[in-house]
Amino acid sequence: MHCLRRRARLRHLQPLRARDRDHVRGGAAEEDGVVTGYAYASAWKTRSAYRFSVESTVYVAADHCGRGIGTRLYRALIAALREQNVHYVTGGIALPNPASVALHERLGFRKNGHFSEVGFKFGRWVDVGYWELIL
Ligand SMILES: CC(C)(COP(=O)(O)OP(=O)(O)OC[C@H]1O[C@@H](n2cnc3c(N)ncnc32)[C@H](O)[C@@H]1OP(=O)(O)O)[C@@H](O)C(=O)NCCC(=O)NCCS
Repeated sequence: MHCLRRRARLRHLQPLRARDRDHVRGGAAEEDGVVTGYAYASAWKTRSAYRFSVESTVYVAADHCGRGIGTRLYRALIAALREQNVHYVTGGIALPNPASVALHERLGFRKNGHFSEVGFKFGRWVDVGYWELIL
């Protein structure tokens, strides 16, 4: 009964297929024909239960950081995700990265997890923190 009621409540949503969620773009920033930043989201997991959930990525070229480009791109991505009925966004941040933490928290994300030494970059193990936003 509980499941049926829940299904009825969600019926108006158009769940995204995993393939579609690989193509949710917040856009790219450009200066003089050169890409200076981009933001996109991809399926968090391919299983059906997670069809309303995505993982986000934002990147700004080093010499263009601190000018508001990341904030603008991430806001556009979140707006696009809302339009597509995405419910949950999570962003993984290789730590330490104060700029990325500040950007996520400015947009309402809250930390939800910390994976120790899950990544390997530039010859060393890195911790990755996860931040989440419910839309
Ligand atoms: C993280 C990143 C996307 C931020 O983009 P940006 O265009 O520099 O960010 P903005 O200018 O919009 O600023 C966003 C916030 O970060 C803060 N910030 C920017 N550079 C910072 C720095 N070096 N140290 C601390 N905070 C910083 C800004 O003050 C702002 O916070 P506020 O609103 O509380 O003042 C960019 O630094 C980047 O691409 N880094 C490398 C890749 C990366 O880490 N991607 C994120 C992993 S998902």
